[in-house]
Amino acid sequence: MKIVRTKSDLRALLEPLRGGRVGLVPTMGAFHEGHLSLLRAARRECNTVVCSLFVNPTQFGQGEDLERYPRKDARDRELAQAEGVDFLFAPASEEMYPPGFETWVEPERLALELEGVIRPTHFRGVATICLKLFNIVRPNVAYFGAKDAQQLAVIELLVRDLDLELEIRAIKTVRDEDGLALSSRNSYLSPTERRIALALPNALARGAEAGRDGGDPVAVARAALDEEPGLKTQYVAVADYDGPRLLAAVQVGKTRLIDNVSLKGSKI
Ligand code: PAF
Repeated sequence: MKIVRTKSDLRALLEPLRGGRVGLVPTMGAFHEGHLSLLRAARRECNTVVCSLFVNPTQFGQGEDLERYPRKDARDRELAQAEGVDFLFAPASEEMYPPGFETWVEPERLALELEGVIRPTHFRGVATICLKLFNIVRPNVAYFGAKDAQQLAVIELLVRDLDLELEIRAIKTVRDEDGLALSSRNSYLSPTERRIALALPNALARGAEAGRDGGDPVAVARAALDEEPGLKTQYVAVADYDGPRLLAAVQVGKTRLIDNVSLKGSKI
């Protein structure tokens, strides 16, 4: 595995490999099994696997956790190597946002609901960095986790609206045995908070079950979350992201957690 720090080096390294299928796994590091499942899918399906590791400052709002976002670069390098990544693209911030940078991708309606209400500039940062990564790597396929269902929908729309020639592959959320969706931010949780956080997947499962029985998934999931006094519910909603999904965001102590489940038996 080669660690690459600059756009020009990565472009030069990829040039002779363009005849084969190039896969991109965009990440912000602090790898867990969710990231590894994306890397494994890419390794199975592509000739060349590029993983980007970049904590993208522009997708964090004022007062969010940019400074304390977990950074585990040495461990991530080992894990990426073990998964057979060919190129780990880990640029410095100035490489991606040089002085004078002022051009943004502004997703609209889809990016302003749910997460967008609480994090109004988040998807602008996500869409901009993803378009930049797509332009630098020019992958045939890029891999995203279904846990960030709204992000996935924003990226799929970006690809469609801006006529990008790549396929977006959604990979199923990976959960701990007790049901908590894996997230780099889970490392912020104390043991007590982690127990409280379990209310999130449990409430979504109850909501989805109610939905299958003809009930109101949002009302049932919200009521289930209300039973847990240790968390604050930010939203519970149904959205059509490639099929109906039940989504929720909660705050447990200082940690925000999001999760979602399919309401139509989709595999992801
Ligand atoms: O999902 C993430 O980790 C990030 O939002 C992404 C897609 C790598 C863009 O920075």
